[in-house]
Amino acid sequence: MKWNAKWVTVPAGLGDVAPLFSTRFPLERPVRQATLAITALGVYEASLNGERVGEFILAPAWTYYPKRLQYQEYDVTGLLQEDNELTVVVGKGWYRSPIAWNSPPQHALCQNPPALLAKLDLVYEDGSTQSIQTDEGWTVGESRIRFSEIYDGEIYDATLEEVPQAPVALFDGPYETLIPQQGEEIREQERIHAARLFATPKGEIVVDFGQEVTGYVESAVTAHAGDVIDLSFAEVLDQEGNFYTENYRAAKAQYHYTCREGEQSYKPHLTFWGFRYIRVNAFPGGPESATLQNFTAIVLHSELKRTGYLSSSNPLLNQLFDNIIWGQKGNFLDVPTDCPQRDERLGWTGDAQVFIRTACLNFDTEKFYAKWLADMAAGQREDGYVGHVVPDVTAPEHPSAAWADAATICPWTVYLAYGDPKILRDQFPCMRRWVDYITTHTKDAGLWTGGEHFGDWLGLDAPVGSCKGSSREEFIASAFYAYSTSLVIRAGKVLGEDVSAYETLYETIVKAFRQAFPTYQTQTECVLAAHFGLAEDVQAAADQLAAMVKDCGVKLRTGFVGTPYLLHVLSGHGYADLAYSLLLRQQYPSWLYPVTKGATTIWEHWDGIMEDGGFWSPTMNSFNHYAYGAVADWVYTVAAGIQTLEDAPGYQKVRIAPIPDKRLDWLSARLDTRHGTIVSSWKKQEGMWRYEIATPVKAEVEIAGKTYQVGAGSHCFFSEM
Ligand code: BGC
Repeated sequence: MKWNAKWVTVPAGLGDVAPLFSTRFPLERPVRQATLAITALGVYEASLNGERVGEFILAPAWTYYPKRLQYQEYDVTGLLQEDNELTVVVGKGWYRSPIAWNSPPQHALCQNPPALLAKLDLVYEDGSTQSIQTDEGWTVGESRIRFSEIYDGEIYDATLEEVPQAPVALFDGPYETLIPQQGEEIREQERIHAARLFATPKGEIVVDFGQEVTGYVESAVTAHAGDVIDLSFAEVLDQEGNFYTENYRAAKAQYHYTCREGEQSYKPHLTFWGFRYIRVNAFPGGPESATLQNFTAIVLHSELKRTGYLSSSNPLLNQLFDNIIWGQKGNFLDVPTDCPQRDERLGWTGDAQVFIRTACLNFDTEKFYAKWLADMAAGQREDGYVGHVVPDVTAPEHPSAAWADAATICPWTVYLAYGDPKILRDQFPCMRRWVDYITTHTKDAGLWTGGEHFGDWLGLDAPVGSCKGSSREEFIASAFYAYSTSLVIRAGKVLGEDVSAYETLYETIVKAFRQAFPTYQTQTECVLAAHFGLAEDVQAAADQLAAMVKDCGVKLRTGFVGTPYLLHVLSGHGYADLAYSLLLRQQYPSWLYPVTKGATTIWEHWDGIMEDGGFWSPTMNSFNHYAYGAVADWVYTVAAGIQTLEDAPGYQKVRIAPIPDKRLDWLSARLDTRHGTIVSSWKKQEGMWRYEIATPVKAEVEIAGKTYQVGAGSHCFFSEM
């Protein structure tokens, strides 16, 4: 797009107040089409004649700003009048908030002033055109948003008059980095009514929405001008039942609203929170005057179509499935984040690769990831380094295995899920350069040694005081080096690239790996050796894993790195029964343990709330971290057995190989693919297993070890229990 519009900003420092930019224009003739193209350094909300333009919340959203800044285009024809006023408020957003602990690259972005670039293209009925663009003719003033920022929340004063009358200043903003909207829009998705209002033992008034969500709260009140609504946010109550905010760390998460006279409702505009509870710190007439009807939670996430559904005869398991969906909703706000609440909310690459298989089953995430991966490629350094987070707002020296490997794992997973090689074509240079980075930076050829990594993050076999499980870092790094290389080879073959050098490299890595790591010391080491096909004897590695799981009392000990593949390795090598034991286990550590503690999302730690009711350290204890929700992938693809084939990705061809377990009466999975809906369910019926399978395309069905070729349609099978 050609931009003749000028970047505009505020003339003198407005401090923290979000500026309101404005222009007025009359229409002399009838208009056929009006399109607003707009972006900002920060996040914006535009209104034409008092009506909000579009439904995109927190636009232009979050990209790797040094190279990519999205603009949006809106059809605003229906909002035009004879005399028009276009106003745009600009908050700090991701661009100008000191996120990622105000790391140097982010600090540099924060030095920019709030700035706006917009043009309104009018096509008149008579075919003539006009363009209204940001330039020195626009005006600006203070908005009612006195403060707005990603971690620290919003302060709003409804008593103020907004008079954007001062002339704007011009700003030397970016043009070369502008790109059209690539990702999904963030939108308001659901409204959740307050479920319970109560006084805590400390006497504080707290509202429970019954579900941890990401979004904001709408308050509806009748008030006097100057009355205040002040809220705090929390994910959980502490052991005594009191409001607990320590785990938000430095995120102030404010919500401070000064009322005008009369009936009104307010929802913040330019920020978001992760929360289940709110504490009413101030309210017209005092916190005790607040009622359930005053508050509604509004759920925000990227516009994604739900595609996957799981259900079973076990209510706890169903709650886990639900929590996984909510974990995804809460962390799919334009970027796949670790968590939505504390002073982090970053696109951690490790978390993303751990969860992506499940993410692609639950929702149609192709466009969402295509944008995020483009930001990864844009932020990849010359030497192939991939950051810990994407968009990369940090400046660390060392990439971490299993984090930066998102560069290969994520595009490959998206390709398998949706079948379009475009994602591989777009990301292939990034994938290859990442593997080349390891090759050129390792100390020992064929392995990845000498780096610094997060290890098997949060593995339960971690030494006291450490977050890193006991699996050897160079073991993990070398295993992922092999895996990433194998994905470059597979992707390259899809694209018709010459990957012979990577095939040779792969052989070298496998050989070196076997020599360097002939034995396995932890569950995660067994998992990786078996799942990545690195063990000389894969069955022996799986046997060792099964023995380790049993020896410690049928417990998992894995962290971020081992957990996603743990059940796959067990069920793939004769231990489906043991895999189910881990899945259905209710005591700590397990997937269902948090469910027994009332979780409504997935926790960062297996014991975010410990068995005695106490918390894991507040320095790192998120109750909405999707990573361990990765287990849903096993339920879809193994328990229900729905699989796509690598030679026909995106479910062009389907394999359905369910594995039932007697501890469940029934289990059902549904997956809406690009080729139609697949259903796989099984249940107990008169001492037999009865399977119902529906497939939109030809499928290979495997039931109790026997293979059948079936056509599109519904099919029923039985097997011995
Ligand atoms: C994040 C994680 C992330 C990790 C890296 C944490 O602070 O919340 O989920 O992957 O750091 O070690």
